Amino acid sequence: ASAVKIAPSILSADFARLGEQVTEAERAGADRIHLDVMDGHFVPNISFGAIVVEAVRRITKLPLEIHLMITDPDDYFDDFVAAGADSFLVHWEGNDNLHRTVQRVRQLNKRVGIVINPATPASVLEEILIDIDQVVVMTVNPGFGHQHFIETMVGKISRVREMINRCNPQCELELDGGVDEKSAPIGVAAGANVLVAGSAIFGDPQGVAAGVDRLRRAIA
Ligand code: DX5
Ligand code: ZN
Repeated sequence: ASAVKIAPSILSADFARLGEQVTEAERAGADRIHLDVMDGHFVPNISFGAIVVEAVRRITKLPLEIHLMITDPDDYFDDFVAAGADSFLVHWEGNDNLHRTVQRVRQLNKRVGIVINPATPASVLEEILIDIDQVVVMTVNPGFGHQHFIETMVGKISRVREMINRCNPQCELELDGGVDEKSAPIGVAAGANVLVAGSAIFGDPQGVAAGVDRLRRAIA
């Protein structure tokens, strides 16, 4: 289970102390930083864009993965690459040209993952799995932090794990939403090997490092 990676999502960080909190997560052994970009259109919430990515880039060496919850993600890849992005997580939903989107990220020499919402079946990944580095199974409806892990996603996580083992074993299987010390072991048992956690880390009453530790211990 030590092969499982932890990706703190800064959506639940204290933005007045963002630098310190990311540094604390890095020191506590976080593996990468997850940045949720929302445009108030693709999801009903607005978060932040490339200027925040650029600020985080200056204070950490960890890889930065950008979860794009925006319409027309392709139009913004260059800005995020200039800001220091290492990988892009793009949604299957609402993208009629996902293969092209994936190729665009590849041309930029960045890692690419496909994100699927709770109502989207694993089967949509069949023809694209070979071309990607990560699958992200949303375990909440995208748009907000602090939501509850949707338990019925466990079957889908196992199905994606089977598909990955069959078609592209290098591909990572990441969970995003409601991951905490209770749900994390369930998700890992179903086959996940990357866990995004926002509120479980940045909302820990004992601090960010304690949040990372608690999650690590839950899956040890
Ligand atoms: C939700 C975002 C998540 C969010 C997770 O749309 O994609 O990354 O920050 O937050 P928690 O861990 O609090 O559910
Ligand atoms: Zn996310």
